[in-house]
Amino acid sequence: MLNVVALVSGGGTNLQAIIDAIANGTITNTKISAVISNNYGVYALERAANAGIDAKVVSPKDYENRATFNDALLETINSYNPDLIVLAGFLVVIPEKMIEQYENKIINIHPSLIPSFCGTGYYGLKVHEAALERGVKITGATVHYVDKGTDTGPIIMQKAVEVKEGDTPKILQQRVMEEAEWKILPAAINMIANK
Ligand code: GAR
Repeated sequence: MLNVVALVSGGGTNLQAIIDAIANGTITNTKISAVISNNYGVYALERAANAGIDAKVVSPKDYENRATFNDALLETINSYNPDLIVLAGFLVVIPEKMIEQYENKIINIHPSLIPSFCGTGYYGLKVHEAALERGVKITGATVHYVDKGTDTGPIIMQKAVEVKEGDTPKILQQRVMEEAEWKILPAAINMIANK
């Protein structure tokens, strides 16, 4: 059984897609033992609680500096002894120590076709703003392993999504989530759980 810890920062629709996929058998051989957020009061925490999953907050606001926050985050993750850490909309720079300890055991979902619109500064809605600004006709989402760079790790899965006339960043974000993110993140976890 693949023991997953999910890290979140916001609404948690990708987390919900994983919870639902486990419940309906799209993902097998997997349990989520904890959901950890860097932000208090986000809806992802409620989604975890509703599914009976341990929900914790490790917020930088509660620590003196980045190093002590990073240590607390890693300690909390370690307490669940995960086989896989899933960054499901986790908008925090991953500490180097964590990447070293969990080499090839951290995956991330990014809302573009890497290597387009990725790297430092490209997260959330900003990714879709940049795609629309550039005028691409196809965008999508990528699931990749996390290494020491920003969005540079080995690609596991990608799915393309059409950009349509009149799209706003929000409309495009929603389409990329529905057509790509909520599908490939569960699919990648299921692949890892059953390989
Ligand atoms: C998702 O679109 C995810 O791809 C993106 O944040 C959003 C979180 O939504 N992640 C990144 O931009 C990572 N660089 P959610 O909380 O509803 O899952």
